[in-house]
Amino acid sequence: MAEFKLPANSIVKENGQYFKAEGATNKRVFKIYRWNPDTGENPRFDKYEVNMDECGPMVLDALLKIKNEIDPTLTLRRSCREGVCGSCAMNIDGTNTLACTKAIESIGTDEVRIAPLPHMPVVKDLVPDLTHFYAQHASIQPWLQADTPNPPRERLQSIEERRKLDGSYECILCASCSTSCPSYWWNSDKYLGPAVLLQAYRFIMDSRDEYKGERLAELEDPFKLYRCHTIMNCTKTCPKGLNPAKAIAEIKKLIVARHN
Ligand code: SF4
Ligand code: FES
Repeated sequence: MAEFKLPANSIVKENGQYFKAEGATNKRVFKIYRWNPDTGENPRFDKYEVNMDECGPMVLDALLKIKNEIDPTLTLRRSCREGVCGSCAMNIDGTNTLACTKAIESIGTDEVRIAPLPHMPVVKDLVPDLTHFYAQHASIQPWLQADTPNPPRERLQSIEERRKLDGSYECILCASCSTSCPSYWWNSDKYLGPAVLLQAYRFIMDSRDEYKGERLAELEDPFKLYRCHTIMNCTKTCPKGLNPAKAIAEIKKLIVARHN
């Protein structure tokens, strides 16, 4: 790959680079976390001026414009650009959210500050390492389990049974909630965190699953579940408007009911 050269009008500062958009009258500054494991240098924040007259409305539009037109070394993850895949989750203006559904106009600060999801190892720039998060997701066995023989066509649900999954099936596993949770920051080695617990709840509540008891027994653990202290950051930050804290509280209630 050819070596990247800074555009002529950019300024190299001691602690980051500043890419100017000269001539633009309607511009916004994006201050973006940069870290490249290959250089061995400390992380820094680079600033990019973007001509908003030539940019789409969402933060992801600005990031892709920067990557395509100003600095191809900027690294980020994205796929669907419509809030479905969960891969563009990052910390924007101090809040974990999806870059593709976050309107630039909704950000009141002069500079739009963008960093990777907090308290996760960083692969590069805005890309967090979610290996452990996905392993935790796999640990709750996120698939339907049943011992009764398969019916001829499919396992049916009533409309009421299906409604019990509302508020959990919509989760896109973006990890915004888990990485906003102080309990998860300090105990993510053992605490499952709000996203994975919401997923666990989704299978506990599914009428087609026959392993509810085993699932609850597996979660009854001082760290896996009870490190949740109802701080509520998860629910506040979820870009899909879900309520993982409520799901965690429901799991706790189901565990108590199991013992009565
Ligand atoms: S509950 Fe919301 S914030 Fe958490 S992983 Fe699911 S979609 Fe993302
Ligand atoms: S790119 Fe898929 S959720 Fe943002």
